Amino acid sequence: MKIKETDRLLVLTGAGISAESGIRTFRASDGLWEEHRVEDVASPQGFARDPHLVWRFYKERYKQAMSVEPNPAHYALKTLEDALGERFWLVTQNVDGLHGRAGNKNVIEMHGSLNTALCTHCHKRFPTAEIDLEAELPPCPNCRKMLRPDIVWFGEIPYQLDEIQSLLDKATLLLVIGTSGNVYPAAGFVMAARYLGARTMCVNLDAPQNKSFFDDFHQGKAGEVLPGLVAEWLK
Ligand code: APR
Repeated sequence: MKIKETDRLLVLTGAGISAESGIRTFRASDGLWEEHRVEDVASPQGFARDPHLVWRFYKERYKQAMSVEPNPAHYALKTLEDALGERFWLVTQNVDGLHGRAGNKNVIEMHGSLNTALCTHCHKRFPTAEIDLEAELPPCPNCRKMLRPDIVWFGEIPYQLDEIQSLLDKATLLLVIGTSGNVYPAAGFVMAARYLGARTMCVNLDAPQNKSFFDDFHQGKAGEVLPGLVAEWLK
């Protein structure tokens, strides 16, 4: 396949694209959800019950994300954006900030970001680098009430869904990388895109739940498979 002048590409990524950078995925046998109860660390109820535990979990993940580097799959998406400009959009479920660090600009972080924190009281957002991470419960620099991680938890509504819907409407190509297809609404984007007439492509280590909705399935590690595919698509 070759990407045409008239194509508009929407990319959706999940934890698998950061695996080769050294960040654990969620649902693997050694994944994050094997070690933690999802409802304890990834729900508003869990945060209300034990904010100390939740903050410890996300501080650890923030430090880890800061200590790793983007891998060849992230850079392949930067190459795509450089070539396609405004005809390229990237929606990620990841909160690690690695797409931005690889140089991608048109990025929607639909599940939030480790790089920001949100005030539970005045609802202002602050860069994590500017808050007091030594404090067990970091206070809001503005109103001194409690901050929370700027992460979309189970039971909460992902960010920028209207914008994502309009990108799905416009896309002629959908590329999904490194996500198991378990969590909606992201897992449903492939059905929507296909219904709207886009060609749907997937790069993943294992077959995702929604595999049957993809026109092309490229099995393997994103860092190994994607750079070659991108070179072929842009030829
Ligand atoms: N290259 C490509 N795919 C990979 C790689 C790799 N190197 N390593 C693992 N994978 C694949 C796995 O085969 C799996 O299908 O990535 C997928 C990761 O799936 P999950 O752990 O379920 O992660 P994700 O789909 O991103 O989770 C979605 O669930 O817990 C919530 O909010 C959290 O955003 C997250 C959402």
